[in-house]
Amino acid sequence: MVAEKGPGQSNFFVDASKPPPNTIDSSRLSIKPIIMLLGLRLVFLLLVFAMSTVSIASPEARIRSILLHRQQRLQQQDVEPERPILLIEGARFPAFDFARRKGAASAAGGVSFEIDGRPVYLVDNGEDGAKWELKDEEHTVRTAGSIWDCGIILSKYLEKQATTLLLRGRRIIELGAGKSLPGLSAAILGARVTLTDAPGVVPLIRRIVALNGLDAQLRGPEVGAVERVEALDWIERDQYLLTILPPTEELFDLILCADVVWVEYLIEPLVATLSALARTSATQILLAHQTRSTRVDARLFAELNRIGFEHEAVPPGDLAREDGFWKETVSIFRVWRPRDMKKE
Ligand SMILES: C[S@@+](CC[C@H](N)C(=O)[O-])C[C@H]1O[C@@H](n2cnc3c(N)ncnc32)[C@H](O)[C@@H]1O
Repeated sequence: MVAEKGPGQSNFFVDASKPPPNTIDSSRLSIKPIIMLLGLRLVFLLLVFAMSTVSIASPEARIRSILLHRQQRLQQQDVEPERPILLIEGARFPAFDFARRKGAASAAGGVSFEIDGRPVYLVDNGEDGAKWELKDEEHTVRTAGSIWDCGIILSKYLEKQATTLLLRGRRIIELGAGKSLPGLSAAILGARVTLTDAPGVVPLIRRIVALNGLDAQLRGPEVGAVERVEALDWIERDQYLLTILPPTEELFDLILCADVVWVEYLIEPLVATLSALARTSATQILLAHQTRSTRVDARLFAELNRIGFEHEAVPPGDLAREDGFWKETVSIFRVWRPRDMKKE
């Protein structure tokens, strides 16, 4: 034992074999930081390993893990998982029977399509029904042989808005008319109608007009009728427009188009044809359009703007929705020229 006197302290005894109190054991001094460093390194390595496992996991494994996590979360919340969205939308209205049958066969018919209480026939199920098919036409023109939802929705819109649109006595032309449902409907509602389509479709349209007894020769001048059925190919429009364009004082009041925009290369010729027919702000256009591609839609509206047309969608409430004549993907656009074209 050695007696030592600390500064400002009374004498006290120190056991030299033990470290003095309040001093650090030198052997521990060297091991503790090493253990701490090793521990930190281990934690760091574990972290690096965990991160690398996440980043190198295959995309499928990561998606599976995300979906599993989501599923667990939904189960915890007692929420029903999402159901797949059906991309193919069904028609809102029944499948109409457009066939005109003769004699006893008429009992076989289904729901007929009526405008103003009058059935419209687009197919003759009589003895020569088979000859009504369009053959050897370009694929875009063969579409004329079907009945499209746009035509049905536009026809029922015309019926509902006949008074607002002042259809009685109006001069109306339909482009790409095909089975011509909107044009026939306008004639039933009192308009004076010209139906047009590619040349190969004209005989079919003439037969349909006769089937419905809507020829101007049969109907008196005071009721609506189909006055003319003419060929009008939008691509070769100049040669056809010569016979169709009325003199300035008898311009068309309304142009009807149903489902005529679906392929891009027809947009420019179609809009150019509309431009030639709607030369003044007095001619309105009703375009029933089914969206099939945002690209085609964008191209259509850009082309209409470029030519100087304005357009707006008819409010959904103006359509015959209460009777089921609507579809999410079908809109009716009102298109017009705000200023008359300059005379050349
Ligand atoms: C999808 S169908 C619509 C038929 C009808 N508007 C309807 O809604 O039922 C497209 C129509 O455009 C017509 N069409 C296609 N190419 C044409 C063209 N170059 N000139 C004029 N009409 C054309 C077809 O003959 C067909 O009648």
